[in-house]
Amino acid sequence: MKNLKNEIAKIISKEVQLSIEELESFIEIPKDSTMGDYAFPCFKLAKQMRKAPQMIAAELKEKITLDENIEKVEVVGGYLNFYISKKMIVQEVIEEFNKKQEKFGSSEEGKGKNIVIDYSAPNIAKPFHIGHLRSTVIGASLYKIYKFLGYNSISVNHLGDWGTQFGKLIEGYKRWGDEYDIDSNPIEELTKIYVRISKACKEDESILEECRNNFKKLEDGDPYCKELWQKFRDLSLQEFQRVYDILGISFDSNNGEAFYTDKMPEIVEMLEKSGKLVKSQGAKIIDLEHKGMAPCMIIKSDGTTTYDTRDLAAILYRARNYDYEKILYVVAYEQNLHFNQVFEVAQLLDMDEKYKKGLYHIPFGMVRLKTGKMSTREGNAIKLDEILSEAVSRASKVIEEKNPNLENKEEVAKKVGIGAVIFNDLYNNRIKDEVFDWDIMLNFAGETGPYVQYIYVRTKSIIEKAGYVPKLEEVNVEKIIDNASMNIIKLLYSFGDTIKMAADKNEPSIISRYLIDLAQAFSSFYAENHIVGEEKEIQDARLYLSNMVGSVLKQGLNLLGIEVPEKM
Ligand code: ARG
Repeated sequence: MKNLKNEIAKIISKEVQLSIEELESFIEIPKDSTMGDYAFPCFKLAKQMRKAPQMIAAELKEKITLDENIEKVEVVGGYLNFYISKKMIVQEVIEEFNKKQEKFGSSEEGKGKNIVIDYSAPNIAKPFHIGHLRSTVIGASLYKIYKFLGYNSISVNHLGDWGTQFGKLIEGYKRWGDEYDIDSNPIEELTKIYVRISKACKEDESILEECRNNFKKLEDGDPYCKELWQKFRDLSLQEFQRVYDILGISFDSNNGEAFYTDKMPEIVEMLEKSGKLVKSQGAKIIDLEHKGMAPCMIIKSDGTTTYDTRDLAAILYRARNYDYEKILYVVAYEQNLHFNQVFEVAQLLDMDEKYKKGLYHIPFGMVRLKTGKMSTREGNAIKLDEILSEAVSRASKVIEEKNPNLENKEEVAKKVGIGAVIFNDLYNNRIKDEVFDWDIMLNFAGETGPYVQYIYVRTKSIIEKAGYVPKLEEVNVEKIIDNASMNIIKLLYSFGDTIKMAADKNEPSIISRYLIDLAQAFSSFYAENHIVGEEKEIQDARLYLSNMVGSVLKQGLNLLGIEVPEKM
């Protein structure tokens, strides 16, 4: 499709001493479409041209030569507003859609580039909590977004399957293992063991010593410790898998922290060589005071490694095995310091500059619960699969009320319920704390997943009623240049840019917001216009429009990790 911003920048560049790229970056899209489709803010030139913005706008208007893409220009305040030829945009959009269909909006910009997305990463023998759900949902969406832009995305579940807590768990299991039924309810039972042994450690220093010993033994490859660790890992993973299955997620790699055990000596050696690894109270650290940060602990005083060391080993491994452009770490903002430290120390590793520059923490805010509404156990340890099944049962209640005769009710309830949770998670800027409120996320008329799904289903039923989708040649663009249609067309035109922006900012909410706008634009269009039963030319044009909207809503939801029902 034509890049219209760029076309306008080219026109202006003939009269102004600035590069096309720079001019293009100034161009805005007015909120109010009666102010034109694009606006050039002339105050950006005021300093250079030593004139008032209004004057510059007026002069530019006289000087520039318009082409067939632009209907007219107008001066409003310090802006020069451009009105694009409606027929031209409609033609561009429908031809592009005809060519790419469900790939409409995709690109090849990432071709040949690898991008590692490190997300989810719950901890073995600990609850998969709602913060991990956020990481999972955001990460899975970024994975799809980058794929759609042609990147080779690689998803890694950097499981928390190593660390001193395993020393404790092993000790607890040794002492009281047969009192707990960890096979049938692993995470809950292991958590109980963990709480009990932690308490015992506080009361008796010698037990703590035993625990430390166990972890040391585990790192040294002791068979008994290794076997127990494997058991805890397998059982926990099985339980996590239930959540991944519900969400329809799988990982390209489940290499967790433990995977790097044998890869850490090399890291320590590299850091030794850099001359920056220093002894401090028996431990080995990298001092980061000059960066205003606490030191990064590489080896603890008892000789064991740390979370940080394992992340460094993972970076080197990923550089060698994935040749990444970027690694995105989708992890809560509580870990800001950790990633700042690790990225800083990574600069000391013996690897290409490219890999040192490609490290990005993608932080997100906390989830706040509207209390009382959700079943909680043991304080804040909420069972995620319970949340998800509650979402499904609530969705199925709504369906029962609204459409009791629907076929495949269970299937639909699943898509709607899970879709509601995911959409809610991705609707606001990720850094904002999120409120978890059933009534808001399951409101079919609100800014929600179910609403977008509902509008999608609408488009489907229109097409089903008509019984066909017209061919491109059958569409007379004159029939869809009214305001309601044009609002839709312009949104469709910007779908590709929206996805790019979502990737640039690593912000799936840009897509979810877009989908609400598109769904609402279609809803207004549909309220004003008949489709099936109109004169053939009008019917065809509107059907084509509806089909494009349906396809983009489906693809957009898909990029968020949400499935659509065909009926609801
Ligand atoms: N397991 C960690 C946690 O639950 C998250 C790991 C994130 N990924 C990483 N490479 N550090 O807090």
